[in-house]
Amino acid sequence: MAEIQEKPHTVELFTEVAPKYEFLNSIMTAGMDRSWRKTLLKISEAALGQTPKDILDLATGTGDVPRMMAEKWPRAKITGTDPTVAMLDVARKRKSSIVWQEGVAEKIAFPDESLDLITIAFGFRNVAEASRLKAAQEAFRVLRPGGVFSILELGLPARNPWRKSYSFLLRFGMPNFAGLFSPKDPYKYLSQSILDFPPPENIRRMLSKAGFVPFAPRPLSLGMTWLYVGKKSPHKNQD
Ligand SMILES: C[S@@+](CC[C@H](N)C(=O)[O-])C[C@H]1O[C@@H](n2cnc3c(N)ncnc32)[C@H](O)[C@@H]1O
Repeated sequence: MAEIQEKPHTVELFTEVAPKYEFLNSIMTAGMDRSWRKTLLKISEAALGQTPKDILDLATGTGDVPRMMAEKWPRAKITGTDPTVAMLDVARKRKSSIVWQEGVAEKIAFPDESLDLITIAFGFRNVAEASRLKAAQEAFRVLRPGGVFSILELGLPARNPWRKSYSFLLRFGMPNFAGLFSPKDPYKYLSQSILDFPPPENIRRMLSKAGFVPFAPRPLSLGMTWLYVGKKSPHKNQD
């Protein structure tokens, strides 16, 4: 089994980009990141079949997802975790009832069957490839029966010409554009990590291997982003 890194290799990189992260995210996705997160919440709630009460957002970064959740589900108890303190520091600057904690996706500091929704937005590809199954298994462990694990992740459109043009943009456009406002190297890594991310079917299979009943991966904005949802069976001991 892969060793769990308490301080992932990307912590330094996200410490560098933290001050400009939200600004760059929003302009580089032409504001679509907000609508993708909205879809994440809507589909997760539908998959759960009720309003979530106990929620964990992994790789929460500067906290965009939990803040949106707190608006949509004001009675929910929401925790956001991330291994990069500089990202959490930005999240903590805004007043909210959200609990912010340091933590990695591969080792979730919650008891078994204590949550009903776990999300991770644009963070799963930062989990080392060898540890992604472990992260999904951890989500499975801490979810109650019937709970939902949702992964929102940047990816590539399934078809050409979109796939080719978007890959070109990622390889050359994104690092050069981001480099005008922020250090360029982290964005080179971020682009490459999107190009290297496994195809949707592999993520669906991984969710299944972790114990979830996976939904069909859902492309958003032609596949620039994908939503993967797995549901833990509501029945215990169902093989
Ligand atoms: C692109 S940001 C996403 C932030 C936020 N979720 C959003 O919607 O904008 C990716 C985050 O993943 C975090 N990260 C890196 N490795 C991680 C790991 N192994 N487990 C959990 N989070 C990790 C980074 O610290 C970073 O804040």
